[in-house]
Amino acid sequence: MPDTALNSVRYDQIRPIKWENDQLHLIDQRLLPSELRYVSYSHVREVTKAITDMVVRGAPAIGITAAYAVVLAARDRIRQSGDNWKQAIQKDLDDLASARPTAVNLRWAVERMRSLIGSINDSLDSDPVSRLVNEAQCIHKSDIEANYCMGELGAALIKSGSSVLTHCNAGALATGGYGTALGVIRSACAADRIQSIYANETRPWLQGSRLTAWELIQEGLAVTLIADSAAAQLMQSGKLQWIIVGADCIAANGDVANKIGTYSLAVLARYHRIRFMVVAPTSTIDLNTESGAGIPIENRPLDEVLACNGQPIAASGADALNPAFDVTPAELVDVIVTEKGVVQSPNAAKITQLFDGL
Ligand code: MRU
Repeated sequence: MPDTALNSVRYDQIRPIKWENDQLHLIDQRLLPSELRYVSYSHVREVTKAITDMVVRGAPAIGITAAYAVVLAARDRIRQSGDNWKQAIQKDLDDLASARPTAVNLRWAVERMRSLIGSINDSLDSDPVSRLVNEAQCIHKSDIEANYCMGELGAALIKSGSSVLTHCNAGALATGGYGTALGVIRSACAADRIQSIYANETRPWLQGSRLTAWELIQEGLAVTLIADSAAAQLMQSGKLQWIIVGADCIAANGDVANKIGTYSLAVLARYHRIRFMVVAPTSTIDLNTESGAGIPIENRPLDEVLACNGQPIAASGADALNPAFDVTPAELVDVIVTEKGVVQSPNAAKITQLFDGL
């Protein structure tokens, strides 16, 4: 495993999720960059809504949040239903798991918590809630450690003097901390390999201009924003060496679902001979989904396209489409970086091999 000591002290200030005083605290990411505010949660239903409404977003961050939400659900169900709490909690878990359909880490974390609940023997276990807290904290801590590890592995692929473009926010805010794509960029900056960081603004939620730019600036890293439609021109200018993105779900054959607009970047990158890196922990890989065709794509409210900040921006009467994610075929991906290793030119056999080594 690479030495992560350097990264754990540099460029690592932001923690979007905290468990303190038996409550879950989330940065309300809808308010950034104008306001940094943690909101506290004590009940699972509020957290499910917070996930759907984008208070917290980014696949790994959603998964960690859901794990803590299961703790809140267990506490309430034990109080209300006593011995029947394990039956009563199932609906809470199902609602949580479907709050954002594409983020596979959400289902992964809920199923891990569900399986722990299944293994708890109430007559032997006097404190099931503490066991669930420990599990959620373990998911949270492992995510940050995986990000440090991916940061080092990904940065090692980047030559000194490189410029990179990222899309959406796959940073500390989208994870337990440090980030996946932004983790690699942070580590590459720490190793002095990055000339310029470009970020797509990422319509319609503007995760690039609001969140990625905010994170980088917090840590003294310079960032240049571009409109999503300027990416082709930037690539044509010869200024870019890498596109680096995260993932919401990676199928067993290496197809990658990520924020809408990622697929077009991959097509453009191949044409311009720019390398395309996907950074994601193994919890984002769904071996039960054979290819990208089987990944559920979340369609979000049309108002997100027809309006901006509550202000209508489209001609009245216009219809809209709002798929939140698209699928990049594995053949357009040069490398997938996970905490277990790097997969060059991914395909089904190489992804299986990655898991065989676990
Ligand atoms: O709709 P969002 O903001 O949840 O979408 C987030 C992304 O697409 C990220 O790139 C992905 O979840 C990876 S985050 C490490």
